[in-house]
Amino acid sequence: MFNYEIKTAYNTCSHLEKFLEASDVILDVGSGTGLVAEYIRKKTGAHVVCLDVVQDGHASEKPIVFDGEKMPFYDEAFDVSICCFVLHHVSFQKALLEEMKRVTKSKIIILEDVIENRGDHFLAFIHKLYSGFRYSSFYTQFRNNHGWRWLFSNCGLLIDKEWYVEKRREITYPISRRGYLLSKNGHL
Ligand SMILES: C[S@@+](CC[C@H](N)C(=O)[O-])C[C@H]1O[C@@H](n2cnc3c(N)ncnc32)[C@H](O)[C@@H]1O
Repeated sequence: MFNYEIKTAYNTCSHLEKFLEASDVILDVGSGTGLVAEYIRKKTGAHVVCLDVVQDGHASEKPIVFDGEKMPFYDEAFDVSICCFVLHHVSFQKALLEEMKRVTKSKIIILEDVIENRGDHFLAFIHKLYSGFRYSSFYTQFRNNHGWRWLFSNCGLLIDKEWYVEKRREITYPISRRGYLLSKNGHL
């Protein structure tokens, strides 16, 4: 693992852990390197299941690989689902969120890049090029805060909390980012 991957995974974990309990069974959608899942497990004692569309050969926690649309789990199989910096790589964002909603009892946590200004548009463009090489797909769909909130509402999810994620977490990619705590029923 690269040093920056370890640092950013720690930062991601710091934005999630306060919402998690040792008894939780958690689904990490788009788990990538598996580091976030590993740190959550170590810090909270929760059980984390990793899910991704590809198998990262170096992943510390191996994911279940799926087609990116239909998740191979029963309804409400998980207490919490997390999806960190994944949705902007997905062309069917609503369908993926609806699957997360189906397999989760209530709490869904999203961390996302958010377009707030011209600098963010530029960084998003660079990220699109980088993603083409890193993930073999140039497809990205970024949104502003209003756009993400609209998408969540459109999936019937309630926004219980919203917060800023530090831009400095990745010095080479200081885009605006936010966290969203969502639920099916509101006010967890
Ligand atoms: C930027 S990485 C984020 C990895 C991890 N969540 C983290 O924060 O370190 C994006 C991940 O999303 C995955 N991904 C892309 N489309 C997906 C989909 N439809 N469902 C689940 N994961 C997907 C990619 O394979 C990649 O591992």
